[in-house]
Amino acid sequence: MSASSMRAVVQHELGGSEVLRVEQIARPEPLPTEILVRVRAAGVNPVDWKTRAGNGMAGVLGEPPFVLGWDVSGVVEQVGFGVTTVKPGDEVYGMPWFPRAAGGYAEYVTAPSRQFARKPATISHEQAAAVPLAALTAWQALVDTADVQRGQRVLIHAAAGGVGHFAVQFAKHLGAHVIGTASSRHHDWLTKLGADALVDYTAVRFEDAVRDVDVVIDLVGDAHDDTSTRSLNVLRPNGLLVAIPAGVSAELAAAAEAKGLRVSAFLVEPDGTALTRIAGLIDAGEVSVEVEAAFPLEQAAAAHTRGESDRTRGKLVLTMGEN
Ligand SMILES: NC(=O)c1ccc[n+]([C@@H]2O[C@H](COP(=O)([O-])OP(=O)(O)OC[C@H]3O[C@@H](n4cnc5c(N)ncnc54)[C@H](OP(=O)(O)O)[C@@H]3O)[C@@H](O)[C@H]2O)c1
Repeated sequence: MSASSMRAVVQHELGGSEVLRVEQIARPEPLPTEILVRVRAAGVNPVDWKTRAGNGMAGVLGEPPFVLGWDVSGVVEQVGFGVTTVKPGDEVYGMPWFPRAAGGYAEYVTAPSRQFARKPATISHEQAAAVPLAALTAWQALVDTADVQRGQRVLIHAAAGGVGHFAVQFAKHLGAHVIGTASSRHHDWLTKLGADALVDYTAVRFEDAVRDVDVVIDLVGDAHDDTSTRSLNVLRPNGLLVAIPAGVSAELAAAAEAKGLRVSAFLVEPDGTALTRIAGLIDAGEVSVEVEAAFPLEQAAAAHTRGESDRTRGKLVLTMGEN
């Protein structure tokens, strides 16, 4: 293996987790304003396995071969012309290029320096790689899309998942009354993270237990048990449903309008400034990061299989070993 090659999880066809293979490919080089990051850990997200199978961002990535992965935490190896805010040796984390390919399941990535931020100092690379995509989704949905205010009632579906556990903590930080849906095995943990009330969605229809909600952060969608449509029954007049997994169908938009409610589709964007804010909350001890399991790069397929079970508490990550 030469100094200009690296290990990466490559897929040559769309399909099940068996299409993920570790190969040696060319190491990228940073263009002006870009940095080369030596990846120590890469986050695994549902968009990864959706894209692997031909859904998610497959339309953006185009025909395989490609390298999945958007979440990375690592060390700056080299900086391109014009970069002044970081230098080789600095520890950074980010979700670069999304929704274009970032190639995060690899030993090195290059991307614009400002799509990264300083890694939170108090957590490991393994934990930091679990943060960017999930935490930016929660932050941008609550702060930028919904503009959640102190005292508002916020319902978070799939509160125990990657995005959900950050959303619970950010909504609490914003001063909201936080209600989550999760199976009961997660309730004690989510209460510690700041949830004021929890509904076991496997035992109760959430709309029978929750009312007068200002904002629903829907991380389940209508594909599962009409969760988006049923959420319209818990909102206050003019309340907002942020439909995160699959956007807003014409039927959902019409149903919301008929009830005097608002609905919004959502897609997360790279944002180094927000990642700096989030790192501050983590380092201040206000926000914790839950990693359910870490897998070596060679076991990316096993990580996908675990994630696709849809039962993950917090996040899954891949680690690079000593590269
Ligand atoms: N549009 C965007 O920009 C964007 C960004 C990020 C994520 N997403 C999408 O948002 C969804 C969530 O992402 P994620 O990373 O948080 O997923 P995840 O971590 O894989 O979610 C797993 C969690 O979902 C919970 N869950 C499953 N079905 C549920 C239901 N019917 N009600 C309540 N909780 C349920 C499970 O809890 P239990 O163990 O209690 O069942 C588990 O803790 C995915 O579809 C993802 O693709 C979209």
